[in-house]
Amino acid sequence: MTHESRPKRAYVETYGCQMNISDGELMEGILEGGGYQIVRTPEEADVVLVNTCAIREHAEKRVLGRVSQLNGLKRDRPDLVIGVTGCMAQRMGETLLEGAPYVDLVMGPDGYRGLPETLARLERGRGEGASGLAAHQGIGIVERPRGRGPQLAVLQLDMDENYQGLEQRRAAGPSAWVPIQRGCDHRCTYCIVPYVRGGEKNRGAAEILAEVRGLAERGVTEVTLLGQTVNSYVWEDVTFPSLLRQVARVDGIRRVRYTSPHPNDVTEALVEVMAEEPAVCEHLHLPAQAGNDRTLRRMLRRYTVDSLLGKIDLVRSAMPDIALSTDIIVAFPGETDEEFRDTLDFMRTARFHEAYTYKYSAREGTPATRLPPEDFVDADEAQARLAELIDVARGIQSEINEGEVGRVEEVLVEGTGRDEGQVRGRTRRNKVVVFDGDPGRIGAYTRTRLDRTTGATFAGTEVEVEIGEPAPV
Ligand code: 5AD
Ligand code: SF4
Repeated sequence: MTHESRPKRAYVETYGCQMNISDGELMEGILEGGGYQIVRTPEEADVVLVNTCAIREHAEKRVLGRVSQLNGLKRDRPDLVIGVTGCMAQRMGETLLEGAPYVDLVMGPDGYRGLPETLARLERGRGEGASGLAAHQGIGIVERPRGRGPQLAVLQLDMDENYQGLEQRRAAGPSAWVPIQRGCDHRCTYCIVPYVRGGEKNRGAAEILAEVRGLAERGVTEVTLLGQTVNSYVWEDVTFPSLLRQVARVDGIRRVRYTSPHPNDVTEALVEVMAEEPAVCEHLHLPAQAGNDRTLRRMLRRYTVDSLLGKIDLVRSAMPDIALSTDIIVAFPGETDEEFRDTLDFMRTARFHEAYTYKYSAREGTPATRLPPEDFVDADEAQARLAELIDVARGIQSEINEGEVGRVEEVLVEGTGRDEGQVRGRTRRNKVVVFDGDPGRIGAYTRTRLDRTTGATFAGTEVEVEIGEPAPV
């Protein structure tokens, strides 16, 4: 069954980090450029792409379940194309095609530019049957013969692919993510990212600035610059601090954020720009990972607890009101109970406004998996450490947020709240506030008094409707 009278329809479902969500938007942009219509449900689509994450085993298991569920759609529509893209696709590669024979395509993070051509090839392959296969090897596409046309694997990492010249298809709204860097040059011993996304590749500064200007013209007022170690960005003579300053000065941009920085590249120059540029928000996500020197060394984080606390002091002395958040991994192989307690102490000293907490998850191919088997922390013990860490982190968060009740803060209205007549927004310090308001004002900036906190989020009251119209998006 072909539908020559209408464009082909594609559906992209994304899991994982902001970078991956941004990649999902990029894939949609590329597909649209290739003549596809983007649809919002898999049921309407001719092509379903599941854009995956590989950071922890749990994330992968969930996605594998979802892919097998989507296969159910093939019962009525055998022509449906199911593709798995992103970090898990890169990590599992052809093993995934073997294990899930209904998957038609696996494509890693550097293959998206050629997505329409690859899909066309897949379709041609179906027409040709099993002949003419393997003709495309050498340009990074491997074909596996199969009854109903081939399966394709596009898994070549490309040191030059920074997606220059391509733009994402963004959802309408006041905020946009702008990827400025792909891949990572670090080798933290627990982390799969460098293996599935390759080394650090930065985008040209002029192109980034042009994109931000274009977004501002369309009514976007908040941008978040994205990269795996975003603040190590450099392009010719443009360093991250200077890029950040230029982005912050684009007409119409009221808020600039960036994520995730590496602590070692938090420099005086960067902090100076953050403190000086009114558009740069008073929020910084600073992944610590652990609060014990031996663990940090074995994680290959390349800093010590002291130097990290030094960075935090540097940031807080320039911006006393800044809200800091972090990532922490517990039960890294070899972490003793005492070392874990150092991490708790570190949390009590650093006092992060928010902490994203994880149990170590072994990722095949990463150096930490080669540590002695007896070093691996027992699952119950790991769970207990996680629970204790969450307790400490939540306690600190509640204390901080209780102390902020009564403040009046600028809020960008982002969406509706759970209850009718409520809207939800975010302060510059990245705190979520829910208050009574008109959903028609999504995209507007307003001032809201923080009345109560649940510990993590706030309920507030709008105190003054600010000048400026909702974004025309
Ligand atoms: N196990 C657990 N957490 C991990 N992270 C990265 N790799 C792993 C792993 N193997 C966490 C880090 C990182 C965040 C995005 O995910 O804390 O900052
Ligand atoms: Fe992974 Fe470390 Fe690179 Fe972050 S800096 S993506 S944790 S290797």
